[in-house]
Amino acid sequence: MRLATLGKPILICVSLLGAHAAHADAPLALRAIMKDLGHHMQVVTDGISREDWELVEKHARLIADHPQPPFTEKARILGFAGSNLGRFRAYDTETHDRAVAVGKAARAGDAHGAIVAFQKLQTSCDDCHSAFRKPFVEYFYGRNGIER
Ligand code: HEC
Repeated sequence: MRLATLGKPILICVSLLGAHAAHADAPLALRAIMKDLGHHMQVVTDGISREDWELVEKHARLIADHPQPPFTEKARILGFAGSNLGRFRAYDTETHDRAVAVGKAARAGDAHGAIVAFQKLQTSCDDCHSAFRKPFVEYFYGRNGIER
């Protein structure tokens, strides 16, 4: 293949990468998933304070098994995370495991265990947010995206 014919595909690749970084027209599905996670956390807090273990268990499971973004969005998130994908995934797994632990403590009616597990769960949310949230919002929504 002559070198001159290589130019075009490379340009197309570059512009596709550019499109990935372009601001989203509509919020990503991940944002709605996160909003739901926030809601479930509130219900869990409420459930713990009222010792409604059935409610706590139910919403801890909804956190652990939260829906995934659609495939195309996953590909875009992959593009964002790049070489940090392993860390991004590890935070998600940690959140999953800690939500499972909250559910277990709730099922056992273990108030102290549920509180400790909940604090750990909250820490795992915060860990991913402090590592990824700001760059994520900038990447998909632009520099002022965080001040919606
Ligand atoms: C693997 C990384 C990761 C984990 C783990 C994670 N989040 Fe998030 N979260 C994000 C990212 C990235 C955003 C920014 C999304 C956006 O603004 O579009 C976000 C944003 C949010 C928001 C704001 C949504 C909005 O309306 O702007 C809430 C609320 C939230 N997360 C709750 C949670 C809770 C609760 C947990 C733990 C149970 C959690 N998140 C765990 C990555 C994560």
